[in-house]
Amino acid sequence: MIDKNNIPASIAIIMDGNGRWATNRMLPRVVGHNAGMKSMKKIIEAADDIGVKHLTVYAFSTENWKRSDTEVNGIFKLLVKYIDSDIQELSEKNVKVTIIGDRSRLSDKVNAKIDYALEKTEANTGMQFNIALNYGSRNEILRAVKTLGEEIASGKLSYENIDEDMISSKLYTGEFNIPDPDLVIRTSGEIRLSNFLMWQLAYSEMIFVDDLWPDFTPEKFYETIEEYQNRNRRFGGR
Ligand code: FPP
Repeated sequence: MIDKNNIPASIAIIMDGNGRWATNRMLPRVVGHNAGMKSMKKIIEAADDIGVKHLTVYAFSTENWKRSDTEVNGIFKLLVKYIDSDIQELSEKNVKVTIIGDRSRLSDKVNAKIDYALEKTEANTGMQFNIALNYGSRNEILRAVKTLGEEIASGKLSYENIDEDMISSKLYTGEFNIPDPDLVIRTSGEIRLSNFLMWQLAYSEMIFVDDLWPDFTPEKFYETIEEYQNRNRRFGGR
């Protein structure tokens, strides 16, 4: 049973395994991403239902550009489709959407659609759903370092005054008020972080599950929350 008084406020998910899910069925990889999007929708609802405050998903990494044009375009088409089909319902559920990552490499069409989603949900006060797009943790840290460097060069900041909170505030997660995740989940049996929120995950519980992302159901999601709660209970204070 999930303890409603100990729901992780901030959860991050590495939605891995869409490609293998499709290949196992001799289908194109994009079909796997489409199945992954359906899975993502169910998990958003499941997270919202139990009172998660921040759900951050890794949808496209800075390394994912190396994939075929068909696959890359397919993922962004799915994002546009997702916003078209779901933004109204998300907004009615008081969900606020944010994007973390470098949007400058995204097409004008995709950026316009993202702007629409952000504006539409800007004032919402319920769960914050954060989509990592063209996101890489090293790139995010580099960007923060450059911002601090600029502030030093302009005399606004003295290097001695840089502290951890200041670095956190210059990360995308700081800009969008996303607290460090209490829990990170990765599907598909791979045990690595793949350049996702490396600064922010310093103290997070990590749960790796074998299911491929399209097979990851709300029931399985709730099992990972129970596992998180058991770990917390076993190790005492938070
Ligand atoms: C990783 O699986 C998944 C991705 C790189 C894309 C994630 C996209 C979605 C879940 C659907 C679209 C949602 C949005 C918001 C655009 P993989 O392809 O690396 O799987 P593999 O390791 O089996 O090849």
